[in-house]
Amino acid sequence: TPRACVIGNPISHSLSPKLHGYWLDRYDIKGSYTALQVADQDLEKTLRELPAQGFVGMNVTLPHKMAVLEFADQITDRATLIGAANTLTFKEDGRILADNTDGYGFIANLRQGAPDWDPKAGPAMIFGAGGAARAIIVALADAGVPEIIISNRTRAKAEALRADFGARIRVVDWVQAGTALADANLLVNTTSLGMKGAADFKVSLDALRPETVVTDIVYNPLRTPFLDAAEAVGCTAVDGLGMLLHQGVPGFERWFGQRPEVDEATRRAVL
Ligand code: ATR
Repeated sequence: TPRACVIGNPISHSLSPKLHGYWLDRYDIKGSYTALQVADQDLEKTLRELPAQGFVGMNVTLPHKMAVLEFADQITDRATLIGAANTLTFKEDGRILADNTDGYGFIANLRQGAPDWDPKAGPAMIFGAGGAARAIIVALADAGVPEIIISNRTRAKAEALRADFGARIRVVDWVQAGTALADANLLVNTTSLGMKGAADFKVSLDALRPETVVTDIVYNPLRTPFLDAAEAVGCTAVDGLGMLLHQGVPGFERWFGQRPEVDEATRRAVL
């Protein structure tokens, strides 16, 4: 029976085993999905050994998302652009295919949670400029968003993203972030602000128009202070759990031959 797993360090917090385990049960598929803690120095050895043990693929989380590209034989365009992979497939001929489904998961979650959101209707604004922001920029540009406004506490990191991803990006100073919100058709929080145990979210969202769709990639807690503030000004708020669920779809389909559903029951299964 086919085996898959998620690797990271640490890995105990990952919801992926619950998610894929739920799908395996739901579709009555004989297979397994486990979590594997892998230290940096063991990464290559792990990737070389797993296929012989019946593994057909894996998800990759921090800190290995960039490093796995070194060992891939084939890298999808979107993983190349993002500069990181979260989904590996071990092909029968021994080659490793690396893909990044984070951006796909992000867009699929928005389409499900805010079906009226039209990517082409106006700019998207992103708070934060870390690894998660990269995947989202690629996905938004791909979806046809005309302008992407990035604001980050450390402005240089936002400037670096503009250097990588080009003219469609406008950088706004962190102290101006609240003011720039009036232009946004979509607002995305990719910072760790408002996450359990992290600093509070203090940027005022009062300038948002109620038509703006607002989403947070943080899902712990599920209802972040950021989403509460967005709902308080009348916006549609989409939580980040769905992004995690949707990013798992392409891998599961590739490894186990069944495209899985993301619905209420799926959400309940991982919470
Ligand atoms: P990831 O790779 O998952 O996106 P990260 O690289 O740790 O995560 O990025 C965390 C983001 O939260 C960064 O944009 C960070 O801003 P800096 O680039 O200035 O570090 C942002 N962040 C964290 N704490 C913050 C705070 N107290 N105020 C503003 N932004 C904060």
